[in-house]
Amino acid sequence: MAGGGFAATAGGTEFEAKITPIVIISCIMAATGGLMFGYDVGVSGGVTSMPDFLKKFFPVVHRKTQEGLDSNYCKYDNQGLQLFTSSLYLAGLTATFFASYTTRNLGRKPTMLIAGIFFIIGVVLNAGAQDLAMLIIGRILLGCGVGFANQAVPLFLSEIAPTRIRGGLNILFQLNVTIGILFANLVNYGTAKIKGGWGWRLSLGLAGIPALLLTVGSLLVVDTPNSLIERGRLEEGKAVLRRIRGTDNIEPEYLELVEASRIAKEVKHPFRNLLMRRNRPQLVIAVALQIFQQFTGINAIMFYAPVLFKSLGFGGDASLYSAVITGAVNVLSTIVSIYSVDKAGRRVLLLEAGVQMFISQTAIAVILGLKVKDHSENLDKGFAIMVVVLVCTYVAAFAWSWGPLGWLIPSETFPLETRSAGQSVTVCVNLVFTFVIAQAFLSMLCHFKYGIFLFFSGWVLIMSFFVLFLLPETKNIPIEEMTERVWKRHWYWKRFMDDDVKGEIGITSTDATKKGRSCFPIDINLNIGLDV
Ligand code: BGC
Repeated sequence: MAGGGFAATAGGTEFEAKITPIVIISCIMAATGGLMFGYDVGVSGGVTSMPDFLKKFFPVVHRKTQEGLDSNYCKYDNQGLQLFTSSLYLAGLTATFFASYTTRNLGRKPTMLIAGIFFIIGVVLNAGAQDLAMLIIGRILLGCGVGFANQAVPLFLSEIAPTRIRGGLNILFQLNVTIGILFANLVNYGTAKIKGGWGWRLSLGLAGIPALLLTVGSLLVVDTPNSLIERGRLEEGKAVLRRIRGTDNIEPEYLELVEASRIAKEVKHPFRNLLMRRNRPQLVIAVALQIFQQFTGINAIMFYAPVLFKSLGFGGDASLYSAVITGAVNVLSTIVSIYSVDKAGRRVLLLEAGVQMFISQTAIAVILGLKVKDHSENLDKGFAIMVVVLVCTYVAAFAWSWGPLGWLIPSETFPLETRSAGQSVTVCVNLVFTFVIAQAFLSMLCHFKYGIFLFFSGWVLIMSFFVLFLLPETKNIPIEEMTERVWKRHWYWKRFMDDDVKGEIGITSTDATKKGRSCFPIDINLNIGLDV
């Protein structure tokens, strides 16, 4: 999903654990799950800018791009074309509800297998598509794959990895999403040159590589001890724990998993809990961060960069390699985030990025406003380069701030009793707004023209003020100390921290945390106490 939305934990006991081969396979799983998602995000833009693809599935759009009668900004304004991109997110959102069920009742391993199978069928339908229906059904199946994989893979990883590498895996997932996007951009750049009109098939078909890896990987790995214990297979869970930790000294962790599973079953109404007044700050922040993350306009670039650059009059080649450049900036800047997030802190990154994004977007709007006046006039080379540089400055700022932090902050602020429900809401809100941007951007570009960049920069201003006044710093604060050290001291949020109000269930234990990316309350039972 988008992005890697699973929790990093702080504080707590460290159990004995080696980095065993099984843990290494888990990391490879993270790579393929994230790559697959990123590839799907990145591939659609390049493909929808390829004339052969348009001619076959969207002849109306193809005619518009050839005739040059319409304004540059409106060439690609077509609901069907946007549906090609957005259907994946709508399907992903829906599939997550089912994925929660399978993750809990069948286990993480079968859920990843289901994801892999959806991906493979989706890729085959897409690469072999004969008509629009086949194409969209393929995208829907890929979306189902995303729903199942984004639910099970992060959860699987967080349960199987020793605590000390868990936080790193969190950002690794996001990093792999960005690598997937870049990989898709590179593939599009190459396949667009293929003569004979089947380049787009190769672009869509190469998604089969991460899909196959995920499928084979899910057959090779064992299910997590947490899941086995949760489903009453205690002895098996214990044996697996011994194998993955590479030691016989697993009794303390085992007992804690059993206890966590017991406590988890007591949480009957996680969503009701989430709505309680004292959980308001985390809920408001998680929802706001997801909406804001999408209203930075990032996916307008990630989904539609080649189309956008073509709209500005770039040649097919130039628009595709410009997308490769922005994709590379996205990856590199995510690495910057990994290094600075615990040093500089979350607020500094978000505020700095706010300024950088605001300036870049405003400057793009000014250049386009002044230089693309006429109906279908193209941008001069010098200005075109300036626009690409500004898009890169904007993407860099996003990638070291809102990209990873939009996921990290919610995952580290929800207390134990609401964490899974909170994560569910986080993922759902993210996918809903990803869908909205995917479905609306090309029409918005047509109607707002260069003003679209002012629209997003306005949002960046609003979100930066939100960060300034309402987002507390959570750097280096153990999760279990958030209430005392963060919320109770915050000028605004402290009014929600009423000591007398007890939760629906009385879990205040600090020795357990849990995580998950789901859309379903049932997940509260999945992972309490797994992340010590
Ligand atoms: C967002 C995605 C976006 C990606 C870009 C993620 O954090 O959730 O929607 O496509 O970053 O790198």
